[in-house]
Parts: sequence; C-alpha cells; structure tokens
Amino acid sequence: MASSDLLDKTLAKDSEKQEVKGYFETTGFDRWNRIYSDSTEVNRVQRNIRIGHQKTVDNVLAWLNEQGNLANRSFCDAGCGVGSLSLPLAQLGAGSIAASDLSEAMVTEAARRAGEAGIPSERLNFTASDLESLEGRYDTVICLDVFIHYPQAAAEEMVRHLAGMAEQHLIVSFAPYTPLLAVLKGIGQLFPGPSKTTRAYTLREAGIVAAAAACGFKPVRRSLNKAPFYFSRLIAFERG
Ligand SMILES: C[S@@+](CC[C@H](N)C(=O)[O-])C[C@H]1O[C@@H](n2cnc3c(N)ncnc32)[C@H](O)[C@@H]1O
Repeated sequence: MASSDLLDKTLAKDSEKQEVKGYFETTGFDRWNRIYSDSTEVNRVQRNIRIGHQKTVDNVLAWLNEQGNLANRSFCDAGCGVGSLSLPLAQLGAGSIAASDLSEAMVTEAARRAGEAGIPSERLNFTASDLESLEGRYDTVICLDVFIHYPQAAAEEMVRHLAGMAEQHLIVSFAPYTPLLAVLKGIGQLFPGPSKTTRAYTLREAGIVAAAAACGFKPVRRSLNKAPFYFSRLIAFERG
C-alpha cells in the first residue's frame, strides 16, 4: 500500500475513534449507563438490549466460574463500559482485574459503582484507555461488545493485539455478520436511536477465529446471545 493511502486510512481510523469517544462521553454515556443499570427510564429497544447483554455477561461469568481458580488469576476487561462484567467478576472472587474504556465518563461511573459495592481498587482498577494503547500480560483478556465499532480488518488486528496480552484465555463478543442482519442493519432497525451516530459493524466469525488461531488460541466455548435488537456471538479461546 502506498504510504499516502496508509496515512489516509490511519487518519480515517483516528477520526472514527474520536467520534466514538465523543459519543460515549455524552449522549452515548447517558443512554448506555441507563441500559446497563436497573433504571426504568428505558424504552422497549433499550430494555431488550439490556436483556441480551445480560445473557452475554452471565455466560462469561458461568464459564469463568466453571474454570475456577479465580482468586489466582489476573483479568483484563478491555472496553469495560460501566463495569457490567468487572463488578460481578470481582464479587465472584477474581484475583485482580484491570478494566479500561475509551470513555472517561464510562470508567468514572464504573469506579463509582465499584466503590458503592465496596470493591477495593487494589482488586478492581479502572483506567481510561483505548484498546490500542493497552499493554501488559493477564491470565485472561475479555472484550465484550466493543468490536461493534471495528470494521473486519481492524477487529482482526485487535484480536491479535489482545491475544498477545493473554497468557491462557481470551474471550470476545461481537455482532456476527449474517445476511439477515445485513438487511436489518440496512434498514436501520438493528441499532436504533442516537447510537446511529456511530457506525456499527458486523463481523465474519471465521476471520475472528483465524486471527486468534494465528496467535495460538483455539475456540473452546461459543454461544449466541439474542434478544430483540441484540445479537452477539461470544467465543472463549484457550491457548494451545
Ligand atoms: C456497548 S459498550 C460495552 C461495554 C462493556 N464491554 C460491556 O459489555 O458492558 C461499548 C464500549 O466500548 C467502548 N469503546 C469503544 N471503542 C473503544 C476503543 N477503541 N477502545 C476502548 N474502548 C472502546 C465504549 O466507550 C463503550 O463503553
């Protein structure tokens, strides 16, 4: 690729990320903070997204609980939102969790919720960071429902980045590409409301699995979590 093409692509990627950040610092924060709570100020679509997302979180917690030994494991919750996974994971006894999100507003709310739940910051630590800047090594790296903001090639690159940070386990969820979803998305029914202000990408599962395989990870668990207006493929990978 010519260097000017590469520069154009990088600038487009950065400006899209800034748009996503702007959204999750403002209207997106208000919207998703309500969805990821027990607030009654949600419409039918938002209530269904909440139900579907809770299935994803519950699956992850059940799988991790089955694996056991949580107290001796380190976790990275990449793109943690308001802590919908990190808080119950800490309460299940996870040794240490490094949770981060692009949005300051999301992590501030997550830290507030953790404080309210009496979870010490030595066990659950929040920082504002984009996925690209994350580094370190963790037993388990988890990234739920963030890839909606990544087109296929960027999502695969991110899977390789997160896999490089994971010693044993990598868990990701994303909206899978299906012809039906492509049609629904086309007529604007999948991501209704102001979330239309950010682009939403569906991903081909084979590419995600291949990206993980390139880093030595194989899929060991899969689930498809659904509710009206929510459709998310969850895959747990293990090294080896
Ligand atoms: C739909 S929410 C999911 C939050 C959380 N993972 C959960 O399942 O509860 C998507 C989150 O991804 C974050 N996000 C989007 N792009 C990101 C990026 N490039 N780096 C880090 N976080 C990002 C947003 O700020 C938002 O909090």
